[in-house]
Amino acid sequence: MTAGPDKDVPASSGPGGAVAREPEGDLAIRTLAMPADTNPFGDIFGGWLLSQMDIAGGIIAGQRADGRVATVAVEAMKFHKPVFVGDVLCCYGHVLRTGRTSIAVEVEAWVLRRGAGASRTLVTEGVFTYVSMGDDRQPKPVAPE
Ligand SMILES: CC(C)(COP(=O)(O)OP(=O)(O)OC[C@H]1O[C@@H](n2cnc3c(N)ncnc32)[C@H](O)[C@@H]1OP(=O)(O)O)[C@@H](O)C(=O)NCCC(=O)NCCS
Repeated sequence: MTAGPDKDVPASSGPGGAVAREPEGDLAIRTLAMPADTNPFGDIFGGWLLSQMDIAGGIIAGQRADGRVATVAVEAMKFHKPVFVGDVLCCYGHVLRTGRTSIAVEVEAWVLRRGAGASRTLVTEGVFTYVSMGDDRQPKPVAPE
C-alpha cells in the first residue's frame, strides 16, 4: 500500500502523522501485520488491510443484524498512511445508518507502531455497507433497536 498525499490526511494530524483524536466506535479486530501481507515494495498490501476492515465491519454489522450479513458496497475509502510489517492493526467501527435490510458501518484502521509507545496512527477509513441475509441468502429486514 502506498501513502496518499499529505493533503489527504485530516487537518488535525500532528507530527509524524498521528491524528489528534481518538478512534471512533468499538474495537472489532486487533492483529499483527506480517511479512506475508506485503506488496512487492515491502509495505503492507492494501488488499489485506481492506480485508481486515471488511471483517471488522462485518462483525459489527452482524451484531446489529443478529445474524448473517454480506458486504454490498465499500465507499469513502481514504488511505492516509502506509502500514508496515510489525505494526499492530486495530480496526474500530460503528453503525452509521440502518436501512430496511442494510447496515452501513464506518470503519477506521489505526496502527500501533514499534517504538511509538501507546500513540496510535490513523491509516485508513471507509464506509462498508452490509445487507442482512436470511438462510435463503435473500435480504432480511433489520429488526428495530
Ligand atoms: C446482498 C444482495 C443479496 C442484495 O441483493 P439486492 O438484489 O441488491 O437487494 P436489494 O436491492 O433489496 O438491496 C438490499 C439493500 O442493499 C442496499 N444496496 C444495494 N446495493 C447497494 C450499494 N451499491 N450501495 C449501498 N447500498 C446498496 C439497498 O439499498 C438495500 O438497502 P435497504 O433495504 O436498507 O433499503 C446481493 O447484492 C448480493 O448477493 N451481492 C453479493 C454479496 C457478496 O457476495 N458479498 C461479498 C463479496 S466478496
